[in-house]
Amino acid sequence: MLTRALTTTRRSDFALLVREGLSRPSQKELPSKFFYDEIGSALFDQICLLPEYGLTRAEERLLSRHAAEIVQNLPQPVAVAELGSGTGKKTRLLLEALCRRHAVSYYPIEISPSALATCERELKDIRCISIVGLEREYLDGLLEVAARRREGQHLLVLFLGSTIGKFEGEASAHFLRQLRGILWEGDVLLLGADLEKPVDILLAAYDDSLGVTAAFNLNLLARINRELGANFDVRQFAHQVIFNQQTRSIEMHLRSLSDQTVTIPGADLVVKLARGETIWTESCHKYSFDELRTMANESGFRPAGIWLDPAWPFAENLWVAV
Ligand SMILES: C[S@@+](CC[C@H](N)C(=O)[O-])C[C@H]1O[C@@H](n2cnc3c(N)ncnc32)[C@H](O)[C@@H]1O
Repeated sequence: MLTRALTTTRRSDFALLVREGLSRPSQKELPSKFFYDEIGSALFDQICLLPEYGLTRAEERLLSRHAAEIVQNLPQPVAVAELGSGTGKKTRLLLEALCRRHAVSYYPIEISPSALATCERELKDIRCISIVGLEREYLDGLLEVAARRREGQHLLVLFLGSTIGKFEGEASAHFLRQLRGILWEGDVLLLGADLEKPVDILLAAYDDSLGVTAAFNLNLLARINRELGANFDVRQFAHQVIFNQQTRSIEMHLRSLSDQTVTIPGADLVVKLARGETIWTESCHKYSFDELRTMANESGFRPAGIWLDPAWPFAENLWVAV
């Protein structure tokens, strides 16, 4: 089967956004998309195995139970584009179900070269799929897939793992409207969304007892050291997780354990951090049913199906572009 990766370099984007986020006079922040270098992607795969992190297993259960039914609700023929595929482990379940109908072109869109390479390697044995990996940002990749579609071919966009929850507030609605703008009427989006649940369960999911999520978070500083020549002393930071009641999001921060000054030559920046000050690295929003329905309607989709996991509240949503 055809397996091809298209690559681009993003070093300057990294330096620019690190500079912007760490120069802020109030809450310093770093974009979560930079978690995923080779070490970060490997750590994310370990997180998915942790007993506390039920999210991935919930979505796996949903896809293994309902892939055939989801596929029955799709237009045909479809090409599949996956935003932030990771290693694509869960996607296999859908692709195998789709293959029972017709041959499928599958386009994983990823900024992590190592996750993309694993995805291509692991899924290439599926009979009747051709894989074209795109090392791109979500919407750049989707635009490219849309430009390649054949006459009469619909798109199925996969956005799994509740990755939509990483967009802050209005940004998720804006992103969904932009995504919808690339689609044709009748195209479909399969959106995995983690639902509201007790706060103690959420806090444990993002602050596991083995410290894997802490390593995932701290690796962002280590990555800045490796790629931008910075001198962060990673041991002078602690992983911190809070639940923000107002935004109904888990927030991950890196808390400075001392007053310190860090030099980042590749971003042309010197940063001062006070003891106790934090760098905000990620938010993971938790959804209600009403909110998901409103999001669909306001971004130009009609909800066409929802599948729920009884053990770990999680919703797999099928939305049709209208
Ligand atoms: C939370 S992981 C989810 C992976 C997989 N979809 C799953 O459900 O397990 C997010 C994935 O999206 C990728 N990613 C993050 N930001 C991205 C962006 N702006 N464009 C493309 N990929 C991105 C990361 O490299 C990572 O593999």
